[in-house]
Amino acid sequence: SSTGDEGAQAGSGGDGAITVGYSQLGAESGWRTANTESVKQNLTADKGFKLTFVDAQQKQENQIKALRDFVAQDVDVIAFSPVVETGWDDVLQEIKDAGIPVVLVDRTVDTKVSDPFVTHIGSDFKAEGTKAGDWVKQNAPDAKIFELQGTLGSGAQVDREEGFDAVVGSQVIGKASGNFTRAEGRTATEAALQAYPDMTMIFTHNDDMGLGAVEAIEAAGKKPGTDIQIVSVDAVRDGLQALVDKKFNYVVECNPAFGDQLAELIKKVHAGEDVPKETVVEETTFDQTITQAQVDARPY
Ligand code: AHR
Repeated sequence: SSTGDEGAQAGSGGDGAITVGYSQLGAESGWRTANTESVKQNLTADKGFKLTFVDAQQKQENQIKALRDFVAQDVDVIAFSPVVETGWDDVLQEIKDAGIPVVLVDRTVDTKVSDPFVTHIGSDFKAEGTKAGDWVKQNAPDAKIFELQGTLGSGAQVDREEGFDAVVGSQVIGKASGNFTRAEGRTATEAALQAYPDMTMIFTHNDDMGLGAVEAIEAAGKKPGTDIQIVSVDAVRDGLQALVDKKFNYVVECNPAFGDQLAELIKKVHAGEDVPKETVVEETTFDQTITQAQVDARPY
């Protein structure tokens, strides 16, 4: 060839761009919307990427189909956020056989395939559950808790529950899933108010379900944050607003805005450079001392 670089670009965007197939699990929550925005803002053409982004609408079969399409397209790197932990063995083996590196984002997998991904970036969900449990132990040791679980079998549900229950599991009087959405959080709480009339607290695995719980509690003529305390995870703006409004009592942050770190990881993985197996994003906690100005400054 005249320039000698066509070979080096084979299998990539053709203009030197890194082709990335990204399977996002859905758009179920404010957190997810912020996460998708962060990913799209950082995997851009001017930063050297050619991104194919597919939203699976919280269905594993849609994710598996998208992953198989990425293999057929022979993308340079596959990134995905798995809706649940199990059920990925076949497709992960197919990706491995095709020699395409996998970057796991946000949630985790539980698989028999050896070395199924090069690197994982996301939260320490168990630590988030532990932080929530520690607050309850300190501030409401007599609370009778209903646990509003995320999507059953997801890393975020399994690990938050494990972390929380290890600290204050003896106070949990009932559990049900709200699938990480506001609507299902509301219906699960309506049922729980009937089933567990003595509950004094809800530990919700995300803000959206907690906001649905606020609606259900208010509709039942009770005061969220007072009659029934709410401890949540995420810290999206709506969740923090509920904290200022004294409807939530404590929020553990889950940070969705790591698209810049993800972009760096993908570049290194594509270049065959060493990357850490695990990148845990930075997170904090918020209580009712938060100010309106802090909430207004929240970017998502
Ligand atoms: O996996 C992260 C979790 O998924 C967030 O806490 C939740 O809001 C989202 O749906």
